[in-house]
Amino acid sequence: MRRGKFITFEGLDGSGKSTQQKKLAAALQREGYRVLRTREPGGTETGERIRKILLDSATAGLASLAEMALMFASRAQHIAQVIEPGLVQGYVVLCDRFTDSTEAYQGGGRKLGSKVVLDLHRILCRGLRPDLTVLLDFHPGMSLGRARRRNRQVAKSGKHEDESRFELENQAFFLRVREAYLEIAKREPDRVVVIDAHGTPAQTHRKIMEAVHNRLKLV
Ligand code: TYD
Repeated sequence: MRRGKFITFEGLDGSGKSTQQKKLAAALQREGYRVLRTREPGGTETGERIRKILLDSATAGLASLAEMALMFASRAQHIAQVIEPGLVQGYVVLCDRFTDSTEAYQGGGRKLGSKVVLDLHRILCRGLRPDLTVLLDFHPGMSLGRARRRNRQVAKSGKHEDESRFELENQAFFLRVREAYLEIAKREPDRVVVIDAHGTPAQTHRKIMEAVHNRLKLV
């Protein structure tokens, strides 16, 4: 069987990744592809437990290196249990965040640098490289506002866990995250497509469809 394709979504909190992931999944399914949607941190039972620790604002004083190690622990399990088997079975795997998030947030935001992230990726993820990465570029101030509003609504509805730990960071942190993302895109232009996400969801979706069809030879 032909190996599937691995497409990741990246961007700041509130940049519209999960909406766009859903839209792309629906469009590809209409075209007849088998699609698997997943996310990080999380995507497996163990990963979702790690996610709770990472995103709960009650998790206080987590060291940056411990934070990075937990991101990679969740990812290593996710690759073994979901991503790699999905690709082997020919699925188009759409993943909301992957190692670029660690390079942007822990490498850039937390100032751990890129090298340590890339070294760990090589060892713990065996260098698994997405076929395409959609980087949704969005103004840091605006995206944070969106993400915080969403979290407040979720908190009020009482439905969900608290997932606001990263959103408590300041503007300078998110400026560093965005900078790091744009550096990755510059370094790997054949993999990463930067999409301006300030338009309507429908406009952004059209740009993503164009990139997917131009860059991936889906069969
Ligand atoms: P996500 O659920 O995608 O949040 P949002 O929908 O708000 O974008 O991701 C959760 C948070 O985890 C997000 O603030 C980014 C952070 N994160 C890292 O810091 N490093 C990582 O490696 C990953 C995967 C996520």
